[in-house]
Amino acid sequence: MPLVSMRQLLDEAAKGGYGVGAFNVNDMEQIQAIMMAAKQTKSPVIVQASRGARAFAEDLYLFKLIQAAAELNPDIPIAMHQDHGNSFETCKSAIALGYTSVMMDGSLLEDGKTPSTFEQNVDVTRRVVDYAHERGVTVEGEIGVLGGIEDGHGAGGTGLEHVTDPDQAVEFAERTGVDALAIAIGTSHGAYKFSKKPDGSVLKMDLLIKIHGRLPHTHLVMHGSSSVPKDLQDVINEYGGKLKPTWGVPVEEIQLGIRNGVRKVNVDTDNRLAMTGAIRKVLWTQPEKFDPRDYMKPAREAMANVVAQRMTQFGQAGHAGDYAPIPITEIAKGYANGSLDTRPSLAAK
Ligand code: G3H
Ligand code: 13P
Ligand code: ZN
Repeated sequence: MPLVSMRQLLDEAAKGGYGVGAFNVNDMEQIQAIMMAAKQTKSPVIVQASRGARAFAEDLYLFKLIQAAAELNPDIPIAMHQDHGNSFETCKSAIALGYTSVMMDGSLLEDGKTPSTFEQNVDVTRRVVDYAHERGVTVEGEIGVLGGIEDGHGAGGTGLEHVTDPDQAVEFAERTGVDALAIAIGTSHGAYKFSKKPDGSVLKMDLLIKIHGRLPHTHLVMHGSSSVPKDLQDVINEYGGKLKPTWGVPVEEIQLGIRNGVRKVNVDTDNRLAMTGAIRKVLWTQPEKFDPRDYMKPAREAMANVVAQRMTQFGQAGHAGDYAPIPITEIAKGYANGSLDTRPSLAAK
């Protein structure tokens, strides 16, 4: 199956009332782990690459690996997404490679650190939407700013400093025409999200529900959605790691989000923890090993287990065969004739 439009994947998820995990990849083993899980659970998938991932793997290696995944798994709809694009040029280069979806994260300036103004965000996102939609490519925007820093990307802070303002979310959706909207509700990237199990004072699910009420037809995106399970932390620490106690986003909160308009759920850290734990275990318990396959195979399996579990928890399991992919050229026509227009004022009619 060719790579699928993320918009189609999210529209189908909205129809079915489920969420779709968007899992980050940097190498072959991570792509294979996602495909193993998708095959096992019969799930449509979103595979995403950050700017750091594209630089690490070199664009073409990574994209050809995704194409191989699509070729080897003709029954699984796969959308390939640019995670946290920092500029028009980054999104344009992903589209040139063949990505079927891009995130223009205009909540930060191009440096990936400094919060932008609302007008700067609208302006750059709108330009990406115009360019991408003409080519049938999906666009995710972000309003509000997440906490934490990953690979030099992010504003830092706790996650509560720039939560999304619902009025701005509505205006942003109207003025940009994005297909999906990432909102800031107190989560942050990485392992250190919360110092105890989060309650409503730090994880603003009430805000998410409010935004969904104002934008019932917009696909919402939850970033920083790793649950950072204790068992994965424990494996790392048991075999020589030094993680400090930490809490992530409980799966039941993500499920509450999914019941309230969340269609894309970003998960990277949980997979990093799973792989690192498995690698540490082999190297710690069998120090004589030096063949990378001896630790990459368990690492791949550990990640596949986490991904399969999330696919089941998010509800995408079993939905791979629900629909035939719409060619990207047809999707482009839908944007051109207005049938895929998501602006709230039109969707309300
Ligand atoms: O945006 C956050 C993802 O976890 C990607 O992280 O920029 O370190 O590849 P990265
Ligand atoms: P985590 O760090 O919680 O896995 O979040 C990943 C993410 O939001 C990627 O964009
Ligand atoms: Zn993110």
